[in-house]
Amino acid sequence: MAIVAPSILSADFSKLREEIQMVEKAGSEYIHIDIMDGHFVPNLTMGPCVVSSIRPHSKAIFDVHLMIDNPEQYVESFAKSGADILTVHYESTKDMKALINQIKSLGVKVGITINPPTPVEVILPYIDDVDMVLIMTVNPGFGGQSLIEECLDKIKFLREKYPELDIEIDGGVKLDNLDKVMESGANIIVAGSAVFNAENPEEVVKAIKNR
Ligand code: DX5
Ligand code: ZN
Repeated sequence: MAIVAPSILSADFSKLREEIQMVEKAGSEYIHIDIMDGHFVPNLTMGPCVVSSIRPHSKAIFDVHLMIDNPEQYVESFAKSGADILTVHYESTKDMKALINQIKSLGVKVGITINPPTPVEVILPYIDDVDMVLIMTVNPGFGGQSLIEECLDKIKFLREKYPELDIEIDGGVKLDNLDKVMESGANIIVAGSAVFNAENPEEVVKAIKNR
């Protein structure tokens, strides 16, 4: 069974607690939280105070995706705010090894991710040190974009090499491309607009989970 990680970027921020509880009740084990700083990506979202505000209202795993410059400066605040996994971009740091160790020392899990133009090989030296790899299938910054199919090859490549690795896919996943997504070998599925813009979000969560 796949793990569903609804991205609250597409949720109604005026009722974030209800939105999270709704997808959790439908069977989402993870809540994907997109942090954007207006520098690393051309959009702004939320900071640690939002994460800590929703933390008491959810038992789900908070899967925090940091699309920010200088992640070293902020990982501690996000860990304290209640993140369970902090995923950082290969492109956002000069010293990935040090950043991975810093996150681990905060007592949270660590994920590594790459943008669509970045070749998958760059993360191979870090695979043994991380808890999860996230493959971006859109250029980060906005929800509701179309999945870039070539990026699925990165997931296939990793799945062949690492049968047990947690591989998360993020960007453009919809019910109508779910077959391809699952065939690629991803086991943690981020879905933002597909869930929160649906007429019946619970059904979408269940459909992804049970595929
Ligand atoms: C994009 C974010 C994604 C986004 C996914 O920069 O990292 O998590 O919210 O949204 P959808 O599923 O709508 O592509
Ligand atoms: Zn994301």
